[in-house]
Amino acid sequence: MEAAACDLLPLPAMTEFPLEMYRIKMIERVRPTTRDERLRALAAAGYNLFRLPAELVFIDFLTDSGTAAMSDAQWAAMMTGDESYAGSRSFDRFERTVRGLFGFEHVIPTHQGRAAEHILCEVMLKPGDAVTNNSHFDTTRAHVEHAKATAIDCVSDCAYISDRECPFKGSIDLAKLKTALDCHRVPFGMITVTNNSGGGQPVSLKNLRDVAAMLHDRGTPLFIDACRFAENAWFIHEREEKRPIRDIVRDMFAVADGCTMSAKKDGLANIGGFFACRDASLAEEYKQLLILYEGFPTYGGLAGRDLEAIAVGLEEAVDEDYLRGRVGQVKWLAERLSAAGVPVVKPAGGHAVFLDARKFLPHIPTEALPAQALACELYVEGGVRACEIGGLMFPGTSAMDLVRLAIPRRVYTLSHLDYAAETVLRVFRRRASMKGMRIVKEAPVLRHFTAELAPLT
Ligand code: F0G
Repeated sequence: MEAAACDLLPLPAMTEFPLEMYRIKMIERVRPTTRDERLRALAAAGYNLFRLPAELVFIDFLTDSGTAAMSDAQWAAMMTGDESYAGSRSFDRFERTVRGLFGFEHVIPTHQGRAAEHILCEVMLKPGDAVTNNSHFDTTRAHVEHAKATAIDCVSDCAYISDRECPFKGSIDLAKLKTALDCHRVPFGMITVTNNSGGGQPVSLKNLRDVAAMLHDRGTPLFIDACRFAENAWFIHEREEKRPIRDIVRDMFAVADGCTMSAKKDGLANIGGFFACRDASLAEEYKQLLILYEGFPTYGGLAGRDLEAIAVGLEEAVDEDYLRGRVGQVKWLAERLSAAGVPVVKPAGGHAVFLDARKFLPHIPTEALPAQALACELYVEGGVRACEIGGLMFPGTSAMDLVRLAIPRRVYTLSHLDYAAETVLRVFRRRASMKGMRIVKEAPVLRHFTAELAPLT
């Protein structure tokens, strides 16, 4: 018997919980650990979660970068990868996909996002310059500073008020942008979608247009840090203009002069990135350095099969059913925690739930790294690994101390999220007894990756 449309199963939007829009064809075993094992592992790692063996992590929310589960279509495409050094068929497919989605003529692959940032900064910046952004992510800031320029964050103030429910907390404050442009030599402006360091919050289409107009009035190009472009487009679809995701993506990038991209996020791939732009002479200059650092412009440090995986992944990332479940998982976890009184950044971001550690642990001063202390405690409690985004990651410049529970794409089920929520709640109940941390050893740049710490007694 043929089913009428109304006989079909309830759509995910009609359910109370985020429905996973996939079924699992291959699994990876994870092993539970004891509390003692975790305490020992953490001490051996110098209380730095980046230094933990991943085998001793039960739920890994350290990052959503490169941690996605690839689809059967991506794996199948990988088998067709053309590994020719130059002019490979896989590059053509990759280039066609990026051009089709983003509308940029010149598409240059890189091995990951920071490589795209590195070359952009080297080509365009001179010592004493400045770059504006909503919030620079750590690698972007580091590359701007490596070029002896200043990274200026212009995100609107509401981004710093964790419980303020603005729909587009990632948007740039135009008055701050104007001041930065008036006071500095700015060879290009950036805007990060979604705004990772500010809670994975989206930028509105209107703000993208306004920012582009202000920069273009002065002849300054705009490059979008596009890592989570599809999640940003989903929020625009939900909160600003209910149009097809692809059309929104097209409009977001139509106002920009180019983008840097880590395909490890919304490319749904485990490695890769790219730079894309409209200006042919910029692309030429860029490719010269690409050959020096990354490889020939038709592979840019990637295998042909990686280019295939990214091409398919980018298309899958703009699927509305996928995005509804994806962003829905993050929202579900944030709301579960918030309902129990846990201070989280509101509204939920696109890729992660951010805990406000200053509110979670008001008795720990910011110098004692409350977010790092909280992240360590979540690991000890339940083997849940999160990431500090606060005073350890951004020494002296962090307006907030956040713990990011970044949800890998298509990896965890609702029961994993439920377990993670329970872990946070158990720590929350005994938060008054928690202590801060101190740094024992640190590197001069990007110290959070390698620093060693110790708990304060
Ligand atoms: N820009 C943003 C907004 C990012 O979140 C990242 C990476 C990068 C650039 C650099 O890309 O890792 O491919 O070199 N973010 C990861 C994270 C590491 O955990 O948020 P990459």
